[in-house]
Amino acid sequence: MNRRTLTDALKSISVFALLALAAPACKKDGATTGAPAADEILIGEVGSLTGGEATFGKSTHNGIELALKQVNGAGGVKGKKLRLLTLDDQGKPEEAATTVTKLITQDKVTAILGEVASSRSLAMAPIAQSYKVPMITPSSTNPRVTAVGNYIFRVCFIDPFQGAVMAKFAANTLKVTKVAILRDVKNDYSVGLANFFTETFKKAGGEIVADQSYSAGDVDFKSQLTSIKGKNPQAIFVPGYYTEVGLVARQARELGIKVPLMGGDGWDSEKLTEIGGDALNGSFFSNHYSPDDMSPQVQKFIADYKSVFNTIPDGLAAMGYDAAMVLVDAMKRANSFSGEDIRQAIADTKNYQGVTGVITINENRDAVKSAVVIEVKTKKFVFKEKINPS
Ligand code: PHE
Repeated sequence: MNRRTLTDALKSISVFALLALAAPACKKDGATTGAPAADEILIGEVGSLTGGEATFGKSTHNGIELALKQVNGAGGVKGKKLRLLTLDDQGKPEEAATTVTKLITQDKVTAILGEVASSRSLAMAPIAQSYKVPMITPSSTNPRVTAVGNYIFRVCFIDPFQGAVMAKFAANTLKVTKVAILRDVKNDYSVGLANFFTETFKKAGGEIVADQSYSAGDVDFKSQLTSIKGKNPQAIFVPGYYTEVGLVARQARELGIKVPLMGGDGWDSEKLTEIGGDALNGSFFSNHYSPDDMSPQVQKFIADYKSVFNTIPDGLAAMGYDAAMVLVDAMKRANSFSGEDIRQAIADTKNYQGVTGVITINENRDAVKSAVVIEVKTKKFVFKEKINPS
């Protein structure tokens, strides 16, 4: 090798070395790989950024991003900045399992935020548990999620409560006694919520006159709706996600079904009324938060969120924000950044003032919180009532 080529070779090596050194520091939020630099903590996020539930993933991501931006802007946690690594699971449980494994084993994240959908959190939780990496789901409400183990937490209420809220709303506010159910049998959340609703509604003296099912991804619900129509229910409980619920609403009206539809938090998306249009007017669903809440904390959150994302945060964004902030609060209190210490600190969370309510983690690693009932009126979500846990 002559002198000139050696110099050239050295030059390119040093450029390479510089790039390699600079790379971790240059990684933006949402990057997918990279070992943590000494002055940063990696947080992993798994969400449905694409697919039939994409608004769940996107809104949650925005909420988390806003939280981490504020925390980093205020100096981070114990002098370390938080860096978010976000992976898209496309709304598939198998992908959720693969991506959480990657975040833990390759990226070595300190904690996991996600998923929204219970079926996907159920696919992730055993993995986080086995690696002893704390996981907080913002909004998975199926009871089985946190039962997976002592590293798995949630900052939302659970479906026995949510189901009871809507059953009591049907019995006491709508004053109906005959309800039909249309559940998504491919969705753990939907199946669970349908059962919890049924339990409370029957206790309140109500009757379930039909119990029909569909599978996520279906587009034609006419045969189920026809058979429901034949039973003359006074309301139909459809505890599914927005894409199918929007179509169900349209087809129900096309078949001449006029009674209100009811649902749970899975309805919370601006796409619901984009898909369902006016067919959803006069329908009701339970949710975690309402932007109509006039408390100064909620209104400040809405203003901050709007200034970054130019839209009003839905419940998922609010839950994502709270999940990230509960994690940060725990990391500040934890003795170290070890999984065990952070786990203990999350478990010790008491009276944390979130934008979705006061969060205390109970012995099942769940939050006990109030719910709101929302009415869909001319394509808008209008706050109807707030129900506290008994
Ligand atoms: N609670 C739903 C589930 O467990 C997820 C969800 C939460 C969807 C909030 C929309 C809004 O699957």
